[in-house]
This record gives sequence, C-alpha cells and structure tokens, in this order.
Amino acid sequence: MDWIVDTPEKKVVVMTGSGISAESGIQTFRGAHGLWENHRIEDVASPIAFRRDPVMVWNFYLQRRKQALASRPNAGHLAVSELESWVTAGGGDFLLVTQNVDGLHKRAGSRNVIEMHGSLVFSRCTACREIFPDECTDMELPPHHDCPQKGLLRPHIVWFGESLFPGDMENIESAIRSCDVFIVIGTSGTVYPAAGLVHYANSLGIRTVCVNKDAPANLDLFDIFIQGEAGTELPRRLFPGKKAEGNTP
Ligand code: OAD
Repeated sequence: MDWIVDTPEKKVVVMTGSGISAESGIQTFRGAHGLWENHRIEDVASPIAFRRDPVMVWNFYLQRRKQALASRPNAGHLAVSELESWVTAGGGDFLLVTQNVDGLHKRAGSRNVIEMHGSLVFSRCTACREIFPDECTDMELPPHHDCPQKGLLRPHIVWFGESLFPGDMENIESAIRSCDVFIVIGTSGTVYPAAGLVHYANSLGIRTVCVNKDAPANLDLFDIFIQGEAGTELPRRLFPGKKAEGNTP
C-alpha cells in the first residue's frame, strides 16, 4: 500500500464527515437510526422546525454543543492537521472541507477549513445576521441577541432545505478543480451537495481516495477505498511525515 499523499508539494483537498469524529465519542448521523428523542433528525434540523418550536431546536443543539465541547480531537483529526502542515511547508496547497459541525478539526490545529454545514460553537442573529463564536450552553431559551432589534438567535448551522453559505461551494469546487488528490473520510456519501463533490472530482479525472469504516453509497466513484477506522488508518497511511515514529505504510 502506497501513501495516500506521497510527496508534500501536492495540491490536496480532504473532505470529512461524522465518521472521523466517531472515535471522539460523537455519534455519526445515521448511527442512531437518525433519531433524537424520537424525532427524525431531519425534523429537528430544519427552518420549519425552528419556526414551529425554537426551544426544542435549541435544546437539541445545546446538547450537541455540550457534547462537542466535552470531546477531544482524535488521531484521525490530528493526522489531517499534520498533513496540512506537511503539505503547506513543502510548497503544496491544502483545503479541508468538513460536513461536521463539532469544531474538532480546528481544535486539532487544521487552519484552512471550510465548515460547509456550519458550526455548533457559533450563533447567528436572525435579525441583524451577525455571526459570532458562542460556547454558551446554559441560557434562557430561546436566546435573543443584544442588538437593537433584539433578534432571535439561531445555531449557525446549515439546516435541511437551506443553501450552503455564500461562496463556499465556489471555493470548494475551485480547489477540487486544481487538486491532485481528493480524499474523503468518514462519510456515507448520501447527503448532497457534499456527496456530489466526489462525482465532480471523478468527472475531472482527479484521483479520489476514500477512508471509511463501511463502503459508502458512492463507492464506485473512488479510485482507492481503504476500509477501516480513521483514527487507525490515517496515521498509518495518509502521508509519510510520521515515518520516523515507526509508522509504516
Ligand atoms: P453518516 O452517519 O451518514 O455516515 C458516517 C460514515 O462514517 C458511515 O459511512 C460510517 O461507516 C463511517 N464511520 C463510522 N465510524 C468511522 C470511523 N471510526 N472511521 C471512519 N469512518 C467511520 O454521516 P455523514 O456522512 O457525515 O448534514 O452525514 C452527512 C451529513 O448528513 C451531515 O453533515 C448532516 C447529516 O444529515 C446536515 O446536518 C446538513
């Protein structure tokens, strides 16, 4: 087995999903049969649910915010962050695109990151639209902003039925167009537009690599599939930067 990225001067795009955070104790999306307290996740993570019952939706996100803040990045997150340092120091380009909202990649040291579904540790005012870091887990619900309009706050998350944040898709596609390898980790390949990025890379003839515990829905679009847990496979196979520590491909 060769290294996924063998030399540092490459242009690399990595995309991750909830599988990379599983070893930090955060349940994957479809791991609990997609349910939270008997609600379908799609019925909680949506603008309709928030209009109907903002307190219920905030309770869901506060529980997830607490869990994310209590979790720690694992060996998979660290390997991705170390790959970025190695590639950028070697003259290459690196972009990490994550569907995860837990903030663990940034805490592991990743710098050039697009959190395409938003972040649990940010809130947004529905009136003045200000976006700000927010690690508060204990507040009167539903929370309001201290702006002149006293707007209702919402989690800074891309919900089902909403578009990605302006510019994100353009920036992601532009990085994919010029990359040498597109590495996809810990995602089932079922949620669009993220899953469609693999089609995009594949249609451009870019090398695609998948590291996942189970075969993803779009398995046939990958040139290489490494089956296993991210925390084990990434430190061993992602790049040779750790060779001195005794890891072999
Ligand atoms: P899923 O729950 O659909 O898929 C998680 C994938 O991770 C599965 O294919 C597992 O086999 C794999 N997996 C589990 N443990 C792993 C490990 N230790 N190492 C490697 N792989 C592992 O989650 P996502 O694909 O992330 O969207 O879901 C995508 C999006 O759907 C989420 O961002 C969310 C959700 O609905 C929004 O909230 C908009």
